[in-house]
Amino acid sequence: MQKVAVLGSTGSIGTSALDVIFRLKDEFSVSALSACSNIKLLSEQVRIFRPRAVSIIDRKKAVEFKRLFGSRKIKVYEGEEGLCLMLRSVGIDILVVGIVGSVALKPVLTGMDYARKIALANKEALVMAGDIVMEKARRKKVKILPVDSEHSAVFQCIESRPGRESQIKNIYLTGSGGPFLRTPMEGLKDITPRQAVNHPRWKMGKKISVDSATMMNKGLEVIEAHHLFGAAIDDIKVLIHPEAVVHSMVEFMDGAMLAQLGACDMRVPIQYALTYPSRLSSPVKRLDFSRARVLNFQIPDFKRFPCLEIAYEAARKGKTYPCVLNASNEEAVKVFLKGRIKFTDIPKVIEKILGLHRGIKQPGLDEILDIDNWVRAKTREILSAISD
Ligand SMILES: NC(=O)c1ccc[n+]([C@@H]2O[C@H](COP(=O)([O-])OP(=O)(O)OC[C@H]3O[C@@H](n4cnc5c(N)ncnc54)[C@H](OP(=O)(O)O)[C@@H]3O)[C@@H](O)[C@H]2O)c1
Repeated sequence: MQKVAVLGSTGSIGTSALDVIFRLKDEFSVSALSACSNIKLLSEQVRIFRPRAVSIIDRKKAVEFKRLFGSRKIKVYEGEEGLCLMLRSVGIDILVVGIVGSVALKPVLTGMDYARKIALANKEALVMAGDIVMEKARRKKVKILPVDSEHSAVFQCIESRPGRESQIKNIYLTGSGGPFLRTPMEGLKDITPRQAVNHPRWKMGKKISVDSATMMNKGLEVIEAHHLFGAAIDDIKVLIHPEAVVHSMVEFMDGAMLAQLGACDMRVPIQYALTYPSRLSSPVKRLDFSRARVLNFQIPDFKRFPCLEIAYEAARKGKTYPCVLNASNEEAVKVFLKGRIKFTDIPKVIEKILGLHRGIKQPGLDEILDIDNWVRAKTREILSAISD
């Protein structure tokens, strides 16, 4: 029985992870859960999975939760420090990271001191500080198992063959193109938050849904793949594939290509990260080849998706540029979701902030955190001028 801690258990990834664990209860038990503020759902999860501890970022909600569970044997941790403290105190074999945003960085780094495997859905931590995260994973001999469907697909194409990474010629990350693939260009500025979170293929949290609509998500994934698989940025290509059947592909030196296909269901990559290297049965929908299937692929248009081009540029520059890209994007998306800026303002502000930054080579964690803070403050300042 392996002990699993699910961080971000109330989110889209977290709830899917718990669904997988529920079905595989002879293999896994839940030792800890974490949420930001949704204590209603967290309470239900606690009743079903009976973890030893929970962590709640919002301190008021943590107090409320303690009142609810006062008589039960469960330890409640509060705030960001509380989350890291929980990871030190409960036993963990596998840490599932389904927290959204760069706030996941510290729990990921702390988790490596205690867990043997990290099932990593969060991409922002790798974009922000990929070198630091990967170096610590190597040093601590912690296996990072990608949960992001594209990276899980690449992992499945190259898995368990030592040295396979060096035989890769190109990685093709596929993306559906989001809800605005065919929206007339002049209509993009009028897109509402509600339209932007309505993804045609996947049901996800709001932030990643907006990132998918701008295709920043694919840009972040290019950087994520660079760190996970050691591939050069220009060897990681993005393809628009509206049917979302092929989850990504790898082209090897000899011209052979491998792809991973399947239904759009995050429980597949989550389960694989948990059970790796085994495969266990799953109730997910199967591809039905009795229906005629046409698979389309196209090169993304940077005019329609400027965030993708900006992300590639930041990725090529390296240093602290990806950290700046990530933080300014997170802030811009937050403000867009509040309806205070236009959809088309998102790339503009990110580009502006990147232009103000002077990259630092091989930054330490403190430098990264300082830059992240500076970028957020600067982005908010610029955005408040736009939204006034
Ligand atoms: N959803 C997908 O299909 C998918 C696919 C690939 C990769 N990912 C990646 O997985 C991550 C999670 O995505 P999601 O779609 O599951 O997001 P989501 O549905 O918005 O869930 C986010 C989770 O993080 C928690 N959270 C929010 N702010 C937090 C904070 N400051 N500190 C600690 N926890 C916090 C939330 O708690 P509350 O509910 O209490 O607010 C919730 O449990 C993202 O990095 C995303 O890029 C997601």
